[in-house]
Amino acid sequence: MIEHNVSLKPYNTFGLNAEAKLLVRINSVAALQEILADDKLMEEERFILGGGSNILLTRDVDGLIIKNEISGIEVVHETDSHVLLRSGAGVVWHELVMHCIGKNHAGIENLSLIPGNVGAAPMQNIGAYGVELKDVFHSLEAVEMSTGNVHSFSNSDCQFGYRESVFKRKLKGQFIISSVTLKLSKQPNINTSYGAIEAELERLGVSEPSIQDVSKAVINIRQSKLPDPKKLGNSGSFFKNPVIPTSQYEQLKRKHPDIPGYSAGEETKLAAGWLIEQCGWKGKIVGNTGSHAQQALVLVNYGNATGVEIFNLSAQIMQSVYDTFGVQLEREVNVY
Ligand code: EPU
Repeated sequence: MIEHNVSLKPYNTFGLNAEAKLLVRINSVAALQEILADDKLMEEERFILGGGSNILLTRDVDGLIIKNEISGIEVVHETDSHVLLRSGAGVVWHELVMHCIGKNHAGIENLSLIPGNVGAAPMQNIGAYGVELKDVFHSLEAVEMSTGNVHSFSNSDCQFGYRESVFKRKLKGQFIISSVTLKLSKQPNINTSYGAIEAELERLGVSEPSIQDVSKAVINIRQSKLPDPKKLGNSGSFFKNPVIPTSQYEQLKRKHPDIPGYSAGEETKLAAGWLIEQCGWKGKIVGNTGSHAQQALVLVNYGNATGVEIFNLSAQIMQSVYDTFGVQLEREVNVY
């Protein structure tokens, strides 16, 4: 069923008001193929919506929104040590994490509480607290929009990088991810390399953590820093952490001795939150928007912000970080 003139406010975690001319919910590959075969509908501009957690809507959508609601979680292969678990793209990511923790399938507990749906996870190779999706990713299936054909993509086919994949680059706008298969471990492979997790586990009095404990620690850390989109509209980190040549980092460090940087050979990843905070934006309220008081990297909607307002704030922040540090920030969020 095609819905007309649909408010997108409930479907984007910024809580922005924008309207879609047409919206269709699909809950199977067959239903999606049927839509793609409708020549009249395909004349419309198409826009794929998952959990709406990484999108800044600056205008109405004068076209067709395809809302991916393909559900289902199933084990498709099992050995003594691993399971291959396939999830529909419309499953809420955190529900998948909780499902795995319940079954003692290890590997994604560090990725607890990341907003959004499973189908969006490979798009930008979601990551947090020392783990990225690519570490547990096995394969995915995606429907080619121009033909309706189903294609399978392996880990290397996806060309994962830091918040990057082939679906954001070369194949942008060409495929709709229908399911994702993860390779998870039956023996917990605890990863507490991220300092804050160790500290939180200690605070909880846990010395030999289970995957449940790691998940709990991650949830506590996230809740202490990141605003809950149900209470305060936001889309997590608004910017990527910039990666610059290590030589440039060394120069910056001479001028700013405290600047955090994670060097890997010739490249160093900076902390965008730190750069933004140094420029005085942290906790600053500008009209209906601002940079969050606990995490400068997160821009929030205080209730009545427009997408344009948030976009303009992000441009101002980018300019001031550039003027102060000579570093160009890049938006992580997709701007429409
Ligand atoms: N920092 C500041 N001020 C701030 C925020 C951070 O100085 O306002 C400094 C911290 O002190 C620390 C460094 O920046 O030295 C890193 O901070 P944090 O550990 O909070 O992580 P992040 O780099 O800001 C990234 C991801 C998050 C992910 C966390 C934890 C990106 C763009 N963001 O944030 O992912 O949860 O690491 O792994 O890579 C997201 O992508 O939406 C997201 C929330």
